[in-house]
Order: sequence, then structure tokens, then C-alpha cells
Amino acid sequence: MANELQTIVGSDSIRQDLFQLLKDYDSNFDINNPYSKKMSSLINNFLSYETDVFKNLVHFLMKEIPNWKYHMLHQNTTDEASGSLRVDLMGERSGDPRIQQLMHRHALDEERHSRLFGGLLQDLGGELEIAESEEMLKKWDDIKDYHEDLIVFTARVHTIEMRSWRCLKLYIDYLSKTDFVKEGWPEKTLDVLKVILNDEIRHVGYTGMLLHEWAANGKQEEVEAALEEAFRQTNRETWTDMSRMMDYLAKYYC
Ligand SMILES: [Fe+2]
Ligand SMILES: [Fe+2]
Repeated sequence: MANELQTIVGSDSIRQDLFQLLKDYDSNFDINNPYSKKMSSLINNFLSYETDVFKNLVHFLMKEIPNWKYHMLHQNTTDEASGSLRVDLMGERSGDPRIQQLMHRHALDEERHSRLFGGLLQDLGGELEIAESEEMLKKWDDIKDYHEDLIVFTARVHTIEMRSWRCLKLYIDYLSKTDFVKEGWPEKTLDVLKVILNDEIRHVGYTGMLLHEWAANGKQEEVEAALEEAFRQTNRETWTDMSRMMDYLAKYYC
């Protein structure tokens, strides 16, 4: 039964891909590090976005629902922008210049991703709303009030970046096998998504290697607990996202 479940969720493949990604990112990656062992067992349980039901729903929306592309690009434009301020702030608060630099670069990447997704949306004839300055200040105040432990924060970002990496691969796989321009996607879509994918791979790499480093330097228990909670939250969030996709179908396609 366990083996059968693993095949359904493709956990072996994501574990191998993740460890290869980390090895490519940093040759110090060690499969016997407590971080790697914890990741192995968490991936083994299951990942919402690696299930067939998730992948099939995304493919169904991409293939059958022409307007869904607006919804997806809009969602990515706003999500990418809101994540970046928090990453930058946590980097500054870490007091470690190396982490500060990594997180600052990460924040700039996410800002760029937001503009890239927004650019695709504009190519489709969509308009971008400019947020009111009051609204922006309120957002920034909320973010400044955000206090989180660096390990807990990094573990959560790590699981979110893993999901971005896998979802982008899913979109790219679909578009690569399709005459996507005929389906109404801007011509540059595939190239843009590939550029973003490369950044997301780096985000998975550096967050994973920070956790790897902390786990080997006296913080094993904190890293393990943080990863467990982060996987739980990201899985829950993905199911909620899926229910929003279903709501979208119920609202517009009956
Ligand atoms: Fe991103
Ligand atoms: Fe990212």
C-alpha cells in the first residue's frame, strides 16, 4: 500500500530531484544530514501538489478553460509581489550579512517575477491596478509587525519555493507540449516561465542549504520541527487554493 501511494504521488521522483538540485546548488550537500533525512520522511508522507488530483486539475484548467490564464497570471502577479517585502525584512533582521544578501537578492527576484507575470497579463490585454499609497503603507505596517523565528520562516519559505518550482514545471510541461500561442497565451510565455523557474530553483537551493547548515550546527530539533509545521501549512494552503480553483469553475463554467 505504501509503495502504491508513493507511486501515485510521485514522491520518489521529487525526492531525487530535490537532492540533485541541492547537490548542484552546493557540493556540500549531504544526504545523511538531519535536514535531508527529515525531508526524505516528509516527502514520503505526501505532498498535496504532487498528487494526480492537483496536477490533473491544473492541466484541466489550462486546457479547457481559456479565461483561467488571466486568473492564474493575476494571482501570480500579486502573490510574487507580496512575498518579497517580508523576505527582505527577515534578511535584514537576521543580522548576518550573508543571509541578508541572499534574502535581498531573493526579494528582488520576486519583485521581478511579479513584473514578468504582470507583463504577460498586459500582453493579453489585461490592465494592472496601481495600489493606492495608503493601501501600500498599511501593507508595509503589517509586514513590519511580522515577527518570526528565522528557522521557522526559512522552513516555510523553503516549502513554498518547492511548490513554486514544481508548479512552474507543471505549467512548462503543459505549454511545451501544446500549441500554446493558438490557445491564446502570449508568445513569450514559455521563455518567461523558464527564466522564473531558474530563480525558483535557486530559492529552493539556498533556503534548503541554510536549513542543512543549521541542522548540522546544533539546531537539528528546531529545523525538524520547523519543517514539519511548514509542510503541514503549505499542504493545507494548496488544498485551499484548489478549492478556489473549483469555486472558479462553479462560478463561471456551469
Ligand atoms: Fe517567484
Ligand atoms: Fe521564489
